[in-house]
Amino acid sequence: MCGIVGFVGAEECADFLVKSLKRLEYRGYDSAGIAVFSGGKIKTVKAKGKIAEGLEKKLAEDGKPSGTCGIGHTRWATHGEPSDVNSHPIGNGRVSIVHNGIIENYRELKAFLSEHGYGFESETDTETVAKLLDYYYDGDPVDAISKAMKDIEGAYALGIMFRDFPDRIFAIRKESPLIVGKGQGENFIASDVTAILDHTKDYYLLEQDEIAVVKKDKIRFLDSHGFEIEKELKTADWDLAAAQKGGFEHFMLKEIHEQPQAVKNTISPRIKDGTPCFDECGLSDEKLKNYKHIFIIGCGSAMHAGMVGKYIIEELSRSPVIVDIASEFRYRNPLISKDDLCVIISQSGETADTLAALKLANEIGADTLAIVNVVGSSIAREAKMVMYTNAGPEISVCSTKAYAVQAAFMYLLAFRVALAKGAIDEERCKTLTAELTGIPELIGKCIEEKAQYQYVASKLIYADSLLYIGRGLDYALSMEGSLKLKEISYIHSESYAAGELKHGTISLIDRDTPVIAVATQSALMDKTVSNVKEVKSRGAKVVMIYKSGTDIGKDIADYTIELPCVSDILMPLVTIVPLQMIAYYTSVLLGRDVDMPRNLAKSVTVE
Ligand code: AGP
Ligand code: GLU
Repeated sequence: MCGIVGFVGAEECADFLVKSLKRLEYRGYDSAGIAVFSGGKIKTVKAKGKIAEGLEKKLAEDGKPSGTCGIGHTRWATHGEPSDVNSHPIGNGRVSIVHNGIIENYRELKAFLSEHGYGFESETDTETVAKLLDYYYDGDPVDAISKAMKDIEGAYALGIMFRDFPDRIFAIRKESPLIVGKGQGENFIASDVTAILDHTKDYYLLEQDEIAVVKKDKIRFLDSHGFEIEKELKTADWDLAAAQKGGFEHFMLKEIHEQPQAVKNTISPRIKDGTPCFDECGLSDEKLKNYKHIFIIGCGSAMHAGMVGKYIIEELSRSPVIVDIASEFRYRNPLISKDDLCVIISQSGETADTLAALKLANEIGADTLAIVNVVGSSIAREAKMVMYTNAGPEISVCSTKAYAVQAAFMYLLAFRVALAKGAIDEERCKTLTAELTGIPELIGKCIEEKAQYQYVASKLIYADSLLYIGRGLDYALSMEGSLKLKEISYIHSESYAAGELKHGTISLIDRDTPVIAVATQSALMDKTVSNVKEVKSRGAKVVMIYKSGTDIGKDIADYTIELPCVSDILMPLVTIVPLQMIAYYTSVLLGRDVDMPRNLAKSVTVE
């Protein structure tokens, strides 16, 4: 999600707010705005687009609001496309807020507030929080905040202003990051310390459900019951570049660490009464039941996520799924018809081949569902139905959390399709969905096992080429693992169906050829172990990625990586972590430009 700043001090704050928002531009955003206490009112200036084109132009035209207390926001839209009215700060004159994150129960809140006379100007989930605070406000801001926090579900960081208290701003967070900066005669709030490094390196980390009351000469912290709490003052020892990465060496590593929250942001808002729910895009069970084929189209990692979708949708619903590379689909005169569903996967929503494939599917009359990360992107606007992955901006060219949320979305789709087609009953659907909701925590556990990934990477850096092998879902994962390694380490690799090796490719194996064997599917384990033995007997150095509790035999591989045990069908969402991390550490050891690999662009908007 995007950027929040706030200032309370003795100086005019409009320029500080704009400058601080610019410090957060690296996070990616689509609109920006500020609100300042000025002349007894909250004056708001906000605009779609980049700060220089939108917000700064408006400030030049309308004049800067004069005041020494205010908040600012750069938006990464999740609910309501980028527009002036959907930009933050959002409020109704009495209360104004800026928000990072997702309000999962915003529909319910909106219905409740509408029943109590509230209208809504924007399409955002955020506006429900502003109105809810107003609803509870009766002169005590902390009381209103405490009550609202009890009603809100989801991830949020909020900067809040109450018109009756022009000398202070309030801040709360749950999941989304927010810090409180301590200056000399001035204090701050910010999404991360980069926004305030020019003014102070001293800050407090706001913890879940804590309330900060920030005045120019005093900062108070309260727990959710309104009781005062003491907090430790920290000092940032990062320079600006390091701070932008949240202390991680690369955006890629930061975004790998964001995967647990990103996956939660994708799946949680789409689970209702224990099963996946696609009401938000109008994809009904009636439609899902009647599609003759499901096509899944994308490029690169997006296509690889589609491969996971193919295996799990076919496994559960027993209905055919065709996965295709967008640049192939668009020129093959595809056998898709108006009786089919075409799922288009894209992080950027701007990939030229994927957009062209979508337009072709629309022309043919197929139903089209876009799974995208960027709200209001070309693909989002072109598709008949759209669901957003809510992963927040992905800065590194290498897709990590975007792939994870795309694959996670495939599970929601697979479970719902199978239920709609009667291939599984409600109880099984709820069991699978419940296990899915436990995956983010396991992803986090896998991420922490860094040492083994670094060790394996140290064994790969001298390779000229290596193989990734697997069967079934493990084969789909080996595709993504191979792409990760190639694109950021520049070492050639190839993913191969393990059972296919003996039909030619095994001739590539010679002494010390590294082979990454992905072996998490219990039903195929014996077969994959045989393939591992085949390559080992020819001198390969094998890294085996397997599920804990599996007996893989002694000395079967040179290096092993053990993963948490979940149902075979859900293993891809944890298996992807070692594959990403091995590629990452190999690239780092080789001194590559991890976040901006040669020859690559984050969004391929040309054919
Ligand atoms: C994967 O690491 C690459 N970034 C690339 O394959 C990417 O997945 C592909 O270009 C598709 O991009 P999109 O998801 O934005 O459409
Ligand atoms: N969900 C909010 C919106 O769409 C906040 C998005 C963000 O984190 O920037 O406006």
